[in-house]
Amino acid sequence: MKKITIAVDGYSSCGKSTMAKDLAQKVKYNYIDSGAMYRAVTLYALRNNLFESDYPNETVLKKQIDQIHIDFRHNETNGKSETYLNGENVEKEIRSMEVADKVSPIAAIGFVREALVKQQQEMGKNKGIVMDGRDIGTVVFPDAELKIFVTARPEIRAQRRLAELTAKGENHTFEEVLKNLTKRDFIDATRKDGPLRQAGDAVVINNSDLTIEEQNAIILKLFKEKTG
Ligand code: DC
Repeated sequence: MKKITIAVDGYSSCGKSTMAKDLAQKVKYNYIDSGAMYRAVTLYALRNNLFESDYPNETVLKKQIDQIHIDFRHNETNGKSETYLNGENVEKEIRSMEVADKVSPIAAIGFVREALVKQQQEMGKNKGIVMDGRDIGTVVFPDAELKIFVTARPEIRAQRRLAELTAKGENHTFEEVLKNLTKRDFIDATRKDGPLRQAGDAVVINNSDLTIEEQNAIILKLFKEKTG
């Protein structure tokens, strides 16, 4: 069966990664979480005190960008792909609220996007990949055979995100999480480089009222249509 490229884009916490991961596992493709790469750069900037209030010092970050190495490694124990920053497993740390709060300004920097987009294109050069993010169908793989744009109502997304954070032992209010999501979406959608935008040829899926099983069935059908 011919291998294709699958781009999954959409708003924060609308279940893109669950969808992309499930599909990749089912069809035996590689899964890449591009958001984890922006989060890893953010963690690097936080650890190196590059933030001046809400914004990073771009001059210093630019000088250090080549020292930031991100890769994904398979964890045999839990069967998951995990994010490594300069050889260290940072999977848990990059999902914190602190990183979520600071990631959008980092993801809006042109040279950061340029560096990460290049790495993402390299990871997908042999096809057989499912990548999720914001600009995958528009910038990273504009020729992807299957593009999916996922949406869900903001309150539903905040509820899902809150449940995830609570499960990890982080205590936050619904309002705080909703505010973070809305703020990130605004910055992501209005930035100059690689804004969150629906590709003209993307299939839109609003999963507000879908179960994971219903969502997976829709995606698998789309995959089969594209691969024959
Ligand atoms: O998908 P996520 O919430 O883990 O993404 C974290 C942030 O990274 C999000 O606020 C937007 C940004 N991002 C991006 O700008 N481009 C991508 N391809 C993926 C994520």
